[in-house]
Amino acid sequence: MENFEQLKTVKFYSGETTPLEMHKVRVVQKLNLLPIEERKESMFEAGFNTFLLQNKDVFLDMLTDSGTNAMSDNQVAAMSVADDSYAGSASFTKLEKSVLEVFNQKYYLPVHQGRAAEHIIAKSFCKPGTVVPMNYHFTTTKAHIELMGSAVEEIYTDEALKIKSDFPFKGNMDINKLNKVIEKWGAENVAYIRFEAGTNLIGGQPFSMANLREVSAIAKAHKIKLLLDTSLINENLYFIKVREEGYRNKPIKDILHEMMSYTDFSYFSARKVSCSRGGGICTNNLEIYMQMRDWIPVYEGFLTYGGMSVREIEAMAVGLMETLDFNVISHSPTFIKYLVDALDKKGIPVITPSGGLGCHLDAGGFLPHIPQTQYPAGALATALYIVSGIRGMERGTISSVRDANGDDVLADVELLRLAFPRRVFTLSQVKYAEDRIQWLFDNRELVGGLEWSEEPPVLRFFVGKLKPIGNWVDNLVAKFRQDFGDSL
Ligand code: F0G
Repeated sequence: MENFEQLKTVKFYSGETTPLEMHKVRVVQKLNLLPIEERKESMFEAGFNTFLLQNKDVFLDMLTDSGTNAMSDNQVAAMSVADDSYAGSASFTKLEKSVLEVFNQKYYLPVHQGRAAEHIIAKSFCKPGTVVPMNYHFTTTKAHIELMGSAVEEIYTDEALKIKSDFPFKGNMDINKLNKVIEKWGAENVAYIRFEAGTNLIGGQPFSMANLREVSAIAKAHKIKLLLDTSLINENLYFIKVREEGYRNKPIKDILHEMMSYTDFSYFSARKVSCSRGGGICTNNLEIYMQMRDWIPVYEGFLTYGGMSVREIEAMAVGLMETLDFNVISHSPTFIKYLVDALDKKGIPVITPSGGLGCHLDAGGFLPHIPQTQYPAGALATALYIVSGIRGMERGTISSVRDANGDDVLADVELLRLAFPRRVFTLSQVKYAEDRIQWLFDNRELVGGLEWSEEPPVLRFFVGKLKPIGNWVDNLVAKFRQDFGDSL
């Protein structure tokens, strides 16, 4: 693969490929790094679920990039001039203008966050006997589609689930599989095709424009609607620009508009794409818009706020425009690449090539002695917190749901996601993460599995509680003290 970080980045005299922050930090938040004994206590209190940790006990919060990104000075400034009216707010008019300029889609429905858009879309287009083919599912997406009685078919390529790969577009759809799904279900039973940018659950991996173009042509030929989830579009745009032939000299806006020309409608979580809050559904198709419009006041709020505060609407209007800035969208992928490449070089199993969103450790390869039924990704998430204060997110079997017989559905891949909230962490913090991951890898045989102590029936990963099998936690803490002395 080409050496893409050379593009429009600063070269160091030393020849090092060091990512460089193209912003300065002007508002800071104090961090807390507890001693390991207290981190252990916090983990027991949290039921071995990183979602249940209190932020005051966390050093680097790499749980998610959702709603945790740094805002720009212009976003914060915009929030102070918000127009607080229930209907016809001038803030909303600004947002509509941004949506049109950025996504080139003129009808916009506001919602309080991404999954609310998924709810409205599934409610409007899904019903029993229909299917939604997609490159890969996202947890809330799948839940909403299935709650409406529709089925999900994943049509990812063979490269998608390979941990180690140099395939630049692991988020692509397999065209043969797509054709087969359409043939199997009949085009009239395909509710819509959903394409996710920066495919979350396989490691923030992008799709290529060529693949989107091809999928769009098939969708059009069968009169099937194509939906794009643009929540993670920033990094997908970055990767198309730097990895795909013919896009290197194109402005981000032109690349995005080309993408949108292939889609019938799109939705996003503004907690990600515009470093703000809220979300939306966009389209140029009046019929599609009208099919969803009347559900917005029922579930979200009036059509000019959709459950959002006007302050977040203002921040989103500015944040969306900033998505068109290469310096803004290149920050996360270059920092993620730094960590992924450093770990990969040391032989630590990590998803390659690096994507957007975060660094994804392959818990299956990291902890091969833990069977999937004892949740290696969950065990790795808890062990890493205990040895470092870093909070990541399990993306493996705990994040899936049991089948009709009540058996665990073993995840395709067991991942620990270390998300990079946009423009939040410095390079030395990334180096700290690298150091503690290396130590944990060298001591990996000390880590054991987990079992449930309290398991909710839906989306169990959010609030379920687990416990360690055996006393591996004490052994890990003892070894840490032996190696690090009185270090935090
Ligand atoms: N689509 C994608 C690709 C997402 O990553 C998310 C959320 C959503 C939709 C739903 O948006 O959270 O605003 O309701 N991902 C978060 C994460 C939760 O941590 O990866 P939301």
